[in-house]
Amino acid sequence: MSDLSALETETLTQIAASTDEAALETVRLSALGKKGAISALLATLGKMSPEERKERGAAINVLKDKVSDALGQRKSVLKKAALEARLKSETVDVSLPTRENGQDIGRIHPISQVMDELTAIFADMGFSIAEGPDVETDDYNFTKLNFPLGHPAREMHDTFFFNPSEDGTRKLLRTHTSPVQVRTMLAQKPPIRVICPGRTYRCDSDQTHTPMFHQVEGLVIEKGAHMGHLKWILEEFCKAFFEVPHVKMQFRPSFFPFTEPSMEVDIQCSRKGGEIRFGEGTDWLEILGCGMVHPNVIRNCGLDPDEYTGFAWGMGIDRLAMLKYGISDLRQMFEGDVRWLSHYGFKALDVPTLAGGVGG
Ligand code: DAH
Repeated sequence: MSDLSALETETLTQIAASTDEAALETVRLSALGKKGAISALLATLGKMSPEERKERGAAINVLKDKVSDALGQRKSVLKKAALEARLKSETVDVSLPTRENGQDIGRIHPISQVMDELTAIFADMGFSIAEGPDVETDDYNFTKLNFPLGHPAREMHDTFFFNPSEDGTRKLLRTHTSPVQVRTMLAQKPPIRVICPGRTYRCDSDQTHTPMFHQVEGLVIEKGAHMGHLKWILEEFCKAFFEVPHVKMQFRPSFFPFTEPSMEVDIQCSRKGGEIRFGEGTDWLEILGCGMVHPNVIRNCGLDPDEYTGFAWGMGIDRLAMLKYGISDLRQMFEGDVRWLSHYGFKALDVPTLAGGVGG
């Protein structure tokens, strides 16, 4: 029987020495597995005489039970220890501050913010949004807007042209948002009240010009629409946008091919102390161009100018953003510097609303 007691001692020692469940499983297989030592012993019983088998069989089974018990006990000890170790290593320190997620770090660009502000203000006045493509036809960007071929006003736009196509026409990057006026009049029946915010392009670059910039166009086409309406809308817009109770505006005669009469609008401000404040002071700042839509444009878009009148305006969104949020260099707006954006940007959930304020 000494072989059995040697096997017992060896197996029980191995069980006690197992430090994890995988090691214990190896010991179990080497003892009780199909090819294990105890299984091998049991396989020898068949060749024995009945008396021998009785004695030897009982002894092997006692050994088997002992080993099984020892395996079971060690297993539960190791299981408990593993659980304890896991609980220790996975403890959560609930007093730690939460980590900033993308929504906290990310910022809305001032241009997007101002577009949202404009939209909130004009939507409240009953305007909807109209859109057009950045790549425009010469016809919509110029001809239908009453820029005759060869007119010097075309040259003033520093246009980016594409190569001419086979039919001789050439596409361009729209130089203003005014072609969306054309698209809207061709697609909708009056009354029309839309604003068209978007990107515009001109071949120009310095501290106050970038080759890509943003404008918002406004268009109203309605029987009986007149300059008084235009003036009121622009005044209400400026008060809401600059968040001041009153502003003075001055309308200066100007020229645009697509409006008659045409005006440029300055708003009252104070520049004392190098800081611009709106709604006070004796200085003026130009913020937009506007006018009554030229009868030729109304006609070019399939409407009868004797029946419908309308007015339009166009403002530089980048300029509005710079004025409102004290940004001095236009070019920085488009450099994509994350430090600039975290300084001038807005939190994603601070959505501008008239009720909550469009101040950002
Ligand atoms: N499209 C003009 C520009 O880019 C701005 C403008 C002026 C738009 C008068 C208008 C308008 O709709 O009526 O210089």
